[in-house]
Amino acid sequence: MDATCNRLPRASASFLARRVSSFRASSIALWSRLAQNGYAINLAHGFPDFPAPEHIKQAAISAILEDYNQYRHVQAACDEVAKHFSETQGVQIDPTNITLCCGQSEAFAASIMAVVDVGDEVLLLDPCYETYEACIALAGGCPVYVRMKPPYWTIDMNMLEASISSRSKAIVVNSPHNPTGKVFSMQELTDIAELCVKYDLLAITDEVYEHITYGNAKHISLASLPGMVDRTVITSSLSKTFSVTGWRLGWAIAPPEIAPAVSNIHVKISDSAPAPFQEAAVIALRSSNDYFVSLRKEYEERRDFVLHMLRAVGFEAYFKPEGSMFVFVELPVSSTKDDVEYATELIEKAGVAIVPGHGFFHNNKRESENFNRFCIDGMGKDTHEYTRRYVRIAFCKSKSTLFSAARAWQSYPL
Ligand SMILES: Cc1ncc(COP(=O)(O)O)c(C=O)c1O
Repeated sequence: MDATCNRLPRASASFLARRVSSFRASSIALWSRLAQNGYAINLAHGFPDFPAPEHIKQAAISAILEDYNQYRHVQAACDEVAKHFSETQGVQIDPTNITLCCGQSEAFAASIMAVVDVGDEVLLLDPCYETYEACIALAGGCPVYVRMKPPYWTIDMNMLEASISSRSKAIVVNSPHNPTGKVFSMQELTDIAELCVKYDLLAITDEVYEHITYGNAKHISLASLPGMVDRTVITSSLSKTFSVTGWRLGWAIAPPEIAPAVSNIHVKISDSAPAPFQEAAVIALRSSNDYFVSLRKEYEERRDFVLHMLRAVGFEAYFKPEGSMFVFVELPVSSTKDDVEYATELIEKAGVAIVPGHGFFHNNKRESENFNRFCIDGMGKDTHEYTRRYVRIAFCKSKSTLFSAARAWQSYPL
């Protein structure tokens, strides 16, 4: 190789790209690892510790035994995703606009890379799940956070509208929501849809908890609202609905203009989703209605058990999650600890791992453009001290794990 080829000198002594320098390690993975290292009960990570349904495991086993071991695109799985979406949301989808990916995570990343240019702004409702920011930053985009208001995580639509600029390209909507357990109402989705149409924004949804809702709460996809199907990329996966987070099988359903780009990016990054699990997805998505009803019932019992456990050790926990598999709860006023101090003591003294909440909250980076004005009161003081007072508890665990956690936690009341 010609050593004199036109290489510019590196700007710093590090081989690392500048764009990763501000990345934070995953708080969820960190606290889950602490649980694994210290043999604590893991209520930190959002993966079930109970078995996946037998009928879908058998489907994956059969696929392997039939030697579906190579790169593969299973069109039947896309057909089932389209059918399932039409049955649950009443929206017809052309299956050729669906890309099967390695989980919602890759579907989301590929969708962001397909639509975000350098300098584009992407609106996010905060607090939010931790992978969105990194994907937007890797694409050169700028996340713009709009705070939802605790304790019911309401959205101030005027604030959302005021955060839209000429550079806004898209909005991310995750419902049912991680970490709060909020399920967006029809009114909230209608208001968001109107803003999307008014300002010509694309919506990117994360619907991984679509089947985990409680009581009267019902998951409504933003794409099902008038004018939205052609301006929404829907992402979801098998992970949570079928308790198979390790199978890495998800999808992006995109409008015809965007779908080929998402598919192309997915092929360039990972070629294809795991072949045996694409086959199993066909069977999973054909599960009977009884399966989904029992999933909801089982999770609702777990949610109620955890709320009861939290109240017994001194939390108020007045917001009951309406969906997803988390309780996001504020430390009581009587506690002088912050989220990290509390989670650290809980793991040390009771052997129970949870996640401190501050990692789910974000601040806008571009103060010069006044994006932070909604977080600062008239005295220039951050009015959101609560961002250091929340902890997240994952209840996607077997009943015996939850009983053990409750017993251990009682030894460390607030
Ligand atoms: C809101 C949300 N989206 C996406 C994911 C990841 O989904 P997948 O396993 O399909 O990549 C998670 C996992 O916890 C999540 O909570």
